[in-house]
Amino acid sequence: MDEKTIIVTGGAGFIGSNFVYYMLKKYPNYRIICLDALTYAGNLSTLKKAMENENFRFVKGDIRDRELVERLFEEEKPDIVVNFAAESHVDRSIENPQLFLETNIMGPEVLMDACKKYGIKRYHQVSTDEVYGDLPLDRPDLFFTEKTNLHASSPYSASKASADLVTLAYHRTYGLPVSISRCSNNYGPYHFPEKLIPLMIINALHDKPLPVYGDGLNVRDWLYVEDHCKAIDLIIHDENSVGEVYNVGGHNEMANIDIVKLILKELGKPETLITYVKDRKGHDRRYAIDPTKITTRLGWEPETKFENGIVKTIKWYLDHKDWWEEIISGDYQNYYQKMYGDK
Ligand code: NAD
Ligand code: TYD
Repeated sequence: MDEKTIIVTGGAGFIGSNFVYYMLKKYPNYRIICLDALTYAGNLSTLKKAMENENFRFVKGDIRDRELVERLFEEEKPDIVVNFAAESHVDRSIENPQLFLETNIMGPEVLMDACKKYGIKRYHQVSTDEVYGDLPLDRPDLFFTEKTNLHASSPYSASKASADLVTLAYHRTYGLPVSISRCSNNYGPYHFPEKLIPLMIINALHDKPLPVYGDGLNVRDWLYVEDHCKAIDLIIHDENSVGEVYNVGGHNEMANIDIVKLILKELGKPETLITYVKDRKGHDRRYAIDPTKITTRLGWEPETKFENGIVKTIKWYLDHKDWWEEIISGDYQNYYQKMYGDK
């Protein structure tokens, strides 16, 4: 296997860090550089084990910082850039859209300019199924395909959809070798406690109310994070995937309330902890991915079934209390009070 240098932006966050570990393990002769601004969602403690690997380098910096990005490209001469860096939480985007547009649209633009300038072999944009908007609950026959129109609902998903358009424009206009993956909801280790699954696990462990938005019937299509990493690995190593968009999802649709009940059952906690709260503004009803393209073209299949993945994930949170206790003891308290305090 030839040697490659890959810049992974946002590698101190949830999916990016899982991808860093996945790549370091699978490709012992690759150099992996993580560029991350360490926002509230980035944690250096997450990368502690990676830091011990001599093929890994961490650089603190903002993907919007053109000078820093160019310096890094000059130093490292990367073959591939995988962009995970983003503001990722829908609820925060409703509170502060500006930061989402700045990070999620301008960040990729700066990265792609550098890719263009330094002749990088692949720029991969990590996108989301949320760019397609939502599907109705009463049409289980409908799924998002790569041909589904972009129809984003939240400032978060609108910013991600914009980045996808810019990415494809760089391919068409400048011939930049890009690819895009649009994945469904991920779960697994290092998932930031503000998101549904870790939030419910941690609240249940503290016997705190579990805040379910609206009627709890909104559906998400859950994928174990490692399966997402595998999909990106396949795409970036496939020369025929230049200019392509792939949907990634494992046909695992679940209503939020069923996930919450499952977590309570696993932890031996009572359902009386469930508290219905005011719905999220513009709340997408259902996401569901048709992964036929990545399955037929690249042979990707999800390996972890939800019933196993969720048990593994709960166990991970029980075994890594130090990781999340540190997070929830800081600024997170103010966030939680603001978002849930008056609901
Ligand atoms: P996350 O919020 O856990 O991590 C984001 C990381 O990006 C953090 O480490 C943060 O410090 C870093 N970051 C933010 N702004 C930055 C900037 N300006 N410069 C450099 N670094 C910056 O997010 P996540 O859940 O791991 O999502 C990663 C990517 O995957 C995002 O692009 C997201 O849109 C996409 N995605 C997420 C999911 C999901 O279920 N979480 C599903 C599909 C796609
Ligand atoms: P989230 O993890 O924020 O992911 P996304 O909005 O990107 O899909 O939320 C997943 C689902 O869970 C979504 O329908 C909103 C819902 N939800 C709650 O009901 N309560 C909560 O406290 C949170 C954070 C989410």
